[in-house]
Amino acid sequence: MKPEKPGPQERVDCERYRLRRFVEALQQSGEARVVRGAADLADVAPALEGSDGAVLFERVGPEGAQLVGNVMGSRARLARAFGVAPEGLLAEVLRRARLAPEVIEVPREQAPVQEVVWTGADADLTKLPANLQHGMDGAPYISAAIDYVVDPASGWTNVGVRRLMLRGRSEAGVDLNAPSDLRAIYEAAAKRGEALPVAFVVGAHPVDYVAATLRLPVDELGLVASLRAAPLPVVKCVTCDIRVPADAEWVLEGTLDARGHVEPEGPYGEFLGYYGAVKMNPVFHLTAVTRRQDALFQTATIGGRLLGRTDTAQLNGLRTEVMVWRALETAVREPLAVHATPSSGGMFNLRVAIRSRVPGEARNAIAAAFGSLANVKHVFVVDPDIDVFSDAQVDWALATRFQADRDLVVQAGFRALPLDPSLAGARTGAKAGFDCTLPFGQAQSIEHRIPEPPRFEGKRYATVEAALADGAKRFEQLMAATGSRDGREIVLALEALRSGGRLARDAEGRYGLK
Ligand SMILES: Cc1cc2nc3c(=O)[nH]c(=O)nc-3n(C[C@H](O)[C@H](O)[C@H](O)COP(=O)(O)O)c2cc1C
Repeated sequence: MKPEKPGPQERVDCERYRLRRFVEALQQSGEARVVRGAADLADVAPALEGSDGAVLFERVGPEGAQLVGNVMGSRARLARAFGVAPEGLLAEVLRRARLAPEVIEVPREQAPVQEVVWTGADADLTKLPANLQHGMDGAPYISAAIDYVVDPASGWTNVGVRRLMLRGRSEAGVDLNAPSDLRAIYEAAAKRGEALPVAFVVGAHPVDYVAATLRLPVDELGLVASLRAAPLPVVKCVTCDIRVPADAEWVLEGTLDARGHVEPEGPYGEFLGYYGAVKMNPVFHLTAVTRRQDALFQTATIGGRLLGRTDTAQLNGLRTEVMVWRALETAVREPLAVHATPSSGGMFNLRVAIRSRVPGEARNAIAAAFGSLANVKHVFVVDPDIDVFSDAQVDWALATRFQADRDLVVQAGFRALPLDPSLAGARTGAKAGFDCTLPFGQAQSIEHRIPEPPRFEGKRYATVEAALADGAKRFEQLMAATGSRDGREIVLALEALRSGGRLARDAEGRYGLK
């Protein structure tokens, strides 16, 4: 008898996309360091500052919590999360985003994230290992929280990443200043005088964080499933109807109250490498904490001197690349590569490689990036031979293919990110595009050819004269023609022809016979 096809419940795997599994893989590959033994919460930020790997703390604080930070702080680790090499990361995210999602609800008893449930007085934010991340932060923050909210208008789940500033056992500040779907959903609820139920997942696989940072007009629970390329097990929260990944480490359930932006939140060391000031923001009220028995708490690195090594810059960069890629697909015929530099927060400085099929495509690419949802400020467009991931190659293209009066596009009055300190309080900002592509159609001229070592290939002849009698040749071809492994005898043969008045040279410098 043929075995029956497994039902949805049996196809659910609550371990494969568990954060802990991913961290174990990082330990094996040498991309995660373990802080053995007991540590204080005060030890966490100094250990994470500038770290080039993830850091796993075995026992933090008096409760001996397990905590991991900087899991996603490199492109290599993000790529590992998607099972591809770093060069293939963007293509893989774009491919997975198109997959049909499968979301499977599991009963509470089967949901690892509800192995332990704290409600009432047990639900206490100060039991969580949230550490002070930067010297001037307003309080400890829960920095790696993925929010799940159901939009009553569409019934869809909105998913984002938001930080929470601890205000007590059951209250936290949530930054809802920047335009976002959550902000719109929350403000609509507040206008109706209703609190908005929300569930924050803390401790998730990097793929879930990537899905959460994308802003696409779809049910984003489905987007998490699509990006996993696997059925997503979800479970209903214990104090509301929101469904969250059943394989998460921790979930904080509660509501954003209807009072609006009423409480000071911040300052906070932000992803552009500066502090964000105190802002008025809504308040989160905790109703339940659910967690795995051996839950692994997660913190995200945000500011600091080495932005490129932070979770935030890497996540932002991938998000920017997805947004801009989608815009480029409708603006230029052949986009080849796009990279948002992590040192610019993964947001402001963007490199695009295109194959120009007609004049003007570089400017189309610049305009598309300016007008996309991403908050790009500076766009560098390069030819296909330039590797957008190489600072040295992009610098070379800027130095040698760019004329400021011809190739610079500057425009003002764009929507801007208020956190950008260079705005000096202005509400809109300027953008610049640098067309670092060679003038259209001139890539083949010798001034635009890239020197390479000689290859010595081609037909053989008895003498230099016989080779030249068959047609003009470069010095390299003359060496190949006579089998020379030295070259100086060719100089002498050419000298003899020149003194006999028989040597000619063409515009490309090839030798010929008169
Ligand atoms: C680690 C991290 C923390 C973030 N914190 C916040 C935040 O506190 N407030 C905010 O508005 N956006 C924050 N973002 C950016 C949002 O998650 C991102 O804009 C997301 O797409 C918003 O989703 P939404 O528009 O579906 O609500 C953060 C991003 C990352 C990677």
